[in-house]
Amino acid sequence: MVRSVGWESRERPGSGGGIMTALPIVPDYRAQSPAVRDRFQRILERPVILSVRNLTKSYVAEDGTRTVFSGLSLDIRRREFITVIGPSGCGKSTFIRIIAGLDEATSGEVLLDGKAVAGPGPDRGMVFQGYTLFPWLTVRQNVMFGLEMRGKARVTAESEAREWLDMVGLGKFEQSYPHELSGGMKQRVAIARALANEPRILIMDEPFGALDSLTRCKMQGYLLQIWKQVDVTILFITHDLDEAVLLSDRILVMGTNPGRVVEFIENPVPRPRTSAQMIAPEFIAMKHRLDELIHPPAEIGEEEKLPMIRLTQAGEDIE
Ligand SMILES: Nc1ncnc2c1ncn2[C@@H]1O[C@H](COP(=O)(O)OP(=O)(O)O)[C@@H](O)[C@H]1O
Ligand SMILES: [Mg+2]
Repeated sequence: MVRSVGWESRERPGSGGGIMTALPIVPDYRAQSPAVRDRFQRILERPVILSVRNLTKSYVAEDGTRTVFSGLSLDIRRREFITVIGPSGCGKSTFIRIIAGLDEATSGEVLLDGKAVAGPGPDRGMVFQGYTLFPWLTVRQNVMFGLEMRGKARVTAESEAREWLDMVGLGKFEQSYPHELSGGMKQRVAIARALANEPRILIMDEPFGALDSLTRCKMQGYLLQIWKQVDVTILFITHDLDEAVLLSDRILVMGTNPGRVVEFIENPVPRPRTSAQMIAPEFIAMKHRLDELIHPPAEIGEEEKLPMIRLTQAGEDIE
């Protein structure tokens, strides 16, 4: 089933037939090493935390009813790391807003630990792309907020908040205000604040989308470390293919018009993960498959020519 990794000459799309470039032959993205296969078998023995059954969302627009997505069904097991990927507008945010209880489905249901979700609750922690910390509260007060809302005594909330901040490496910044922190640090506080409520599932909507690429890489490493230490299941939305492959156990690929599940894939990249794996054959195979699903072949090589005016006599000898 696994094709060997090598190189072949392939004609580049749009090259007019003249230029040949070497592209690697990668293994089949469905091929799993025995260790990876065993891990997925063990995951199947764990209880289902989140169950989504035939979920459909539509809304009434001026020109009639529009379907955002239809027929979404999936089960997520305890401590799985699931990423959702798909083109902009396919309904990823709407999907998780429904899971979070911030929006209502038109039909179908979401079960958390077997109970139907009806409105927001502390059993689902949220982290969004935008910075959502309260600017008038210190870092520690931000983390304490949900704990006190749930009736914990101030001293307990304080010491628990400190523990969570230590966990994300920000113990020293507990007295700082959000505006004194970098973007990456703010998102670490947001993660600490979400986890402090001990949610069953942590739902993250493009949480690193506003960060520069170096900070983003560091945050991915931190998140993997945190997930290893905390008993939490993660549902993570991204549009970054590398991020999806680096982080997740399974990847839910959504299509658009209307939104739907295209494929729910078991990621063949073994754990523990490091950024060094980004050039491993199975990583490239997985990423290539995602790229194929998100940018269907018809679109590849059909780039529109820009109406360029020649400004210099630079020539075309650049490839
Ligand atoms: N209740 C609603 N009213 C109007 N438009 C909606 C509603 N719910 C979702 N949409 C639209 O559905 C589409 C999907 O949005 P979204 O979930 O944000 O997609 P994604 O996160 O994948 O980019 C968007 O065009 C959004 O404006
Ligand atoms: Mg979105």
